[in-house]
Amino acid sequence: MNTPATDYRVAVLGPGGVGGFLAALLARGGSSVLVLAGDETARAIARSGLRLESARYGTFETTPRTATGLEHPVDACLITVKAMQLHEALDRVPAGKLGHGLVIPFLNGLEHVELLRDVYPPDRVVPATIRIETARVAPGVVRHTSPFAAVDIASTPGNRETVEEFAARLRDTGVDVRLREDEATMLWEKFALLAPMALLTTHERANAGVVRAKRRQDVLALIAEVAAVARADGVAIDEAGVLRLFDAVPESMETSMQRDQAAGRPLELDALGGALLRRAARGRVEVPLTRRLVEDLQARTSAARR
Ligand SMILES: NC(=O)c1ccc[n+]([C@@H]2O[C@H](COP(=O)([O-])OP(=O)(O)OC[C@H]3O[C@@H](n4cnc5c(N)ncnc54)[C@H](OP(=O)(O)O)[C@@H]3O)[C@@H](O)[C@H]2O)c1
Repeated sequence: MNTPATDYRVAVLGPGGVGGFLAALLARGGSSVLVLAGDETARAIARSGLRLESARYGTFETTPRTATGLEHPVDACLITVKAMQLHEALDRVPAGKLGHGLVIPFLNGLEHVELLRDVYPPDRVVPATIRIETARVAPGVVRHTSPFAAVDIASTPGNRETVEEFAARLRDTGVDVRLREDEATMLWEKFALLAPMALLTTHERANAGVVRAKRRQDVLALIAEVAAVARADGVAIDEAGVLRLFDAVPESMETSMQRDQAAGRPLELDALGGALLRRAARGRVEVPLTRRLVEDLQARTSAARR
């Protein structure tokens, strides 16, 4: 499907599960979308378009422009690579080419925002979180499997107008979008559920239902460790609320770190477990269970590489 281009320009760095989903919806909604990818994926999308398969939004193809690097300013550049790909991928978005555009990362984790603020004007870097389940099933083909798609974006009084402009574009596509004022709380709230779930499902090699039944004490202890580190970081986490969310996810729910492990792909272990250990050390918080899980998973991934 060809979509009318408008004057709102969005670049998407990394057209995978999250990036491909956002790029497809924004392109269908009429934004002028440029997908930034490696040679092969850029060529595949230029040739066959970007296909989204979604029960909520339908199955459709769009034809965004593609490039391997940003050449002209955009209004917003969405950063949707995985944590371990971030450093290298940013070469495709030179700060000098971005103009006054927003840089909006959707990565899970706590540390990518600082990295981005070292590269781009700090007030233009506007972190977001996304609650969704999507997977890139082939270059340029994304499957959206959750009934929900919810985005939070942190804004400040200084950038509210430009952030709201992007939020309105995304909202128009049918995604639930909220503007948040406290960036640290927004990132920690997502992290407080995700990190325990990702670490335990990956460690147990099992879905959320099995982890809840077999590792109940670890679920409680890990949520408590994450909350203690968040507290040392100045953010109050409602532990009982996180546990309620953990208990409410479908039994069959798997995390992407667990799926990456099963598929032999690199894990975002450092961005989740590693970041938690570093924040714990900074706040002088003891996190013995986190440490054991991270060490076990590190040993497992290095054994798999040998
Ligand atoms: N998927 C989800 O349901 C979900 C939900 C919430 C949050 N998240 C978070 O969102 C982030 C992205 O996850 P994802 O699942 O979307 O990952 P993904 O499906 O693996 O997508 C990553 C994309 O980045 C591209 N890429 C890798 N290195 C690149 C480079 N150097 N230059 C340009 N593009 C590059 C990949 O290209 P190729 O296509 O060529 O491989 C791929 O399209 C992660 O932090 C994840 O934790 C994911």
